[in-house]
Amino acid sequence: MKTTLTVLLIMELCGLSSGLKQHFYVNEEKKWLCAYHHCRNYFHALSTFTTANEEERFLANATSQTSDAWVGLHRKPKTEVWKWLADIDAEQISWDTDPTMTQPNNITNQNCGFLHKDHKKLHDERCTMRKPFFCMTDFVLVHQNKTWDGALEYCRTHYNDLASLSTTERMNSALLEVTQAETEYVWTGLRYLAGDWFWVSGDGPDYTAWYQNKEPQCPARDLRCGALDKTTRLWTHRNCEKKLNFFCQ
Ligand SMILES: *[C@@H]1O[C@H](CO)[C@@H](O)[C@H](O)[C@H]1NC(C)=O
Ligand SMILES: *[C@@H]1O[C@H](CO)[C@@H](O)[C@H](O)[C@H]1NC(C)=O
Ligand SMILES: *[C@@H]1O[C@H](CO)[C@@H](O)[C@H](O)[C@H]1NC(C)=O
Repeated sequence: MKTTLTVLLIMELCGLSSGLKQHFYVNEEKKWLCAYHHCRNYFHALSTFTTANEEERFLANATSQTSDAWVGLHRKPKTEVWKWLADIDAEQISWDTDPTMTQPNNITNQNCGFLHKDHKKLHDERCTMRKPFFCMTDFVLVHQNKTWDGALEYCRTHYNDLASLSTTERMNSALLEVTQAETEYVWTGLRYLAGDWFWVSGDGPDYTAWYQNKEPQCPARDLRCGALDKTTRLWTHRNCEKKLNFFCQ
């Protein structure tokens, strides 16, 4: 584990991959658990920021916040242990230290965390309150040129999978990053097999963004891999053997 982290860190430093969580304010009031599911369905997760660096970047993306908003911080019921989602122990939490409302302030039943609209600091609150929330995506643009199969193997080794741009929200987030690609097209986890296009991650086919809104029917044998086109900002099918930058998630 430690080795993997070191290797990833070195790769980041050498500029071989760039991936930053992108945070989005969702202005719909939901209970914490419903917000959690909303983020998983449309983005990747409720927002987390586990280091000072990540917190700084989160706050830079949090400027559109117009109300107190949930983040992916919660307390294991009946314990004193706060966790970020993905079971990460929250070691340093920027609780609000304002003397009129020092946080956390209710050990008995406030088990979820939100970001205070004005103070930009964390508060504990009952999870059943309804609030807007922050969701994040976690795409990594890998600045290496690989075939589609090579990209798939790389993503599954170092991250989870080749990226699915399977909702408007995920697509918009990928479009923010694709401008930094060195190749005109960037591989995604879109593949044509047995008569259909599908996401290798298993995501559903509801959202599409094909060029001219036309899904390629019966593509030639060598044009069965899906990429994001930097210029049209839409999906396109390319020769799977082409070596391109790619998105992992
Ligand atoms: C988040 O901040 C980064 C860096 O300042 C910026 O490039 C990106 O567009 C922002 N994303 C959102 C969703 O605001
Ligand atoms: C903490 O929660 C208890 C139980 O719901 C409630 O009676 C009390 O007023 C709360 N205290 C604060 C400071 O919110
Ligand atoms: C990948 O290909 C692009 C376009 O051909 C090129 O500019 C870039 O330097 C290549 N990147 C690497 C890491 O080889």
